[in-house]
Amino acid sequence: MPISGDVYKELGRAAAGAVSVVAAYRNPGSSILALTVSSFATLSFDPPLVMFAIQHNADSYTAMVESKGFGVSLLSIEQSDVAQLFASKGHAKNQNTMFEAGQVVAVPLIPKALAHIECSTSQVVVSGDHAIIIGLVEAARTSQRRPLLYFARQYGSFDPIQSP
Ligand SMILES: Cc1cc2nc3c(=O)[nH]c(=O)nc-3n(C[C@H](O)[C@H](O)[C@H](O)COP(=O)(O)O)c2cc1C
Repeated sequence: MPISGDVYKELGRAAAGAVSVVAAYRNPGSSILALTVSSFATLSFDPPLVMFAIQHNADSYTAMVESKGFGVSLLSIEQSDVAQLFASKGHAKNQNTMFEAGQVVAVPLIPKALAHIECSTSQVVVSGDHAIIIGLVEAARTSQRRPLLYFARQYGSFDPIQSP
């Protein structure tokens, strides 16, 4: 028998994760859809694949599942306000001026992020109340910025443990 929803929510709070914004164009050159996720993960080295999970009741669900490509912006510690904005509902967050264009794939990216990943959609796996969207990485760039993390419903930073 599966665990209760309350226990599952506790698990979610205990799982610290990096925070990203995933974004796509509804059609090339048209309006943008974007949301904050902590489910982004690298998946495969060869071929280079990444993934994230999107909940069925997200407003962007259908368009994101049907999109041919998506951009992932791994947020930096200075971007908790960006994370909050893209975790909200409504069209205010999806203005073109908030994004820059991908260099190889037509995907929207958040400026000044820790890393940018440009993907073509490779596979969509519907599982439970989420879809796992898998992308082939066509281009990627990282910076020396520090990551934004999410734990116990709070944003924070990464502190390495000092070696004795
Ligand atoms: C830190 C954080 C992580 C999140 N991770 C995910 C996620 O991995 N998948 C998801 O579908 N929603 C996630 N959400 C919730 C979405 O960002 C939120 O539901 C958003 O409003 C969806 O946008 P939309 O309805 O415009 O598609 C997360 C929210 C926060 C604050």
